Amino acid sequence: MRGYFGIGVQEISKEGNVGNLVRSAHAFGASFFFAIAPVVDIHALRATDTSDAFDHLPYYQYDSVAALDLPKGCQLVGVEFVDESIELPSFRHPTRAAYVLGPEMGSLSPALLARCDHVVKIPMKFCINVGVAGALVMYDRALSTGRFADRPVKSGGPVTPLAAHVQGKRRFSRKGIKSGNDA
Ligand SMILES: C[S@@+](CC[C@H](N)C(=O)[O-])C[C@H]1O[C@@H](n2cnc3c(N)ncnc32)[C@H](O)[C@@H]1O
Repeated sequence: MRGYFGIGVQEISKEGNVGNLVRSAHAFGASFFFAIAPVVDIHALRATDTSDAFDHLPYYQYDSVAALDLPKGCQLVGVEFVDESIELPSFRHPTRAAYVLGPEMGSLSPALLARCDHVVKIPMKFCINVGVAGALVMYDRALSTGRFADRPVKSGGPVTPLAAHVQGKRRFSRKGIKSGNDA
């Protein structure tokens, strides 16, 4: 998989949601986890986290939106259920991305929304749990940027196995046209 991603939360207040989200982040191959002004003591959680995700993922904490400091070239993707958001199935994930989710009892703040390069929503009837929403976004990234065999026309598994990846193969499908996502 090309690029990397991190995932984070603003003003998260429930330990269970942090544990759930960081565990999913670890499983989906996130490169870092972050929190902006968390209400729960995430440093204390590290000691009790049974999935050990914090032992394998760098954790960054920021006091405010203004203090948020992402790697150079990393695009901030807000995950929020608002009308203006891009529907996730129609979204092209940036190669270098940091996804940020809102608090359990609220939404991403206007300051954070203004800072985002993109805002996406999971098309559904109403908001769901923050940890579940984060997992769905990471799953969508994995689906759309990973290499998987095509789905067959009929129900069931793939009929044609995925061709082996050739290391070092050029990423150009036609002269001068890049075939990969280069956002
Ligand atoms: C439980 S929701 C917050 C409550 C919500 N604002 C409400 O009206 O009840 C917590 C966070 O989960 C994320 N979230 C939940 N469902 C979502 C969806 N369908 N699309 C995008 N984000 C979602 C957002 O980041 C949101 O800020």
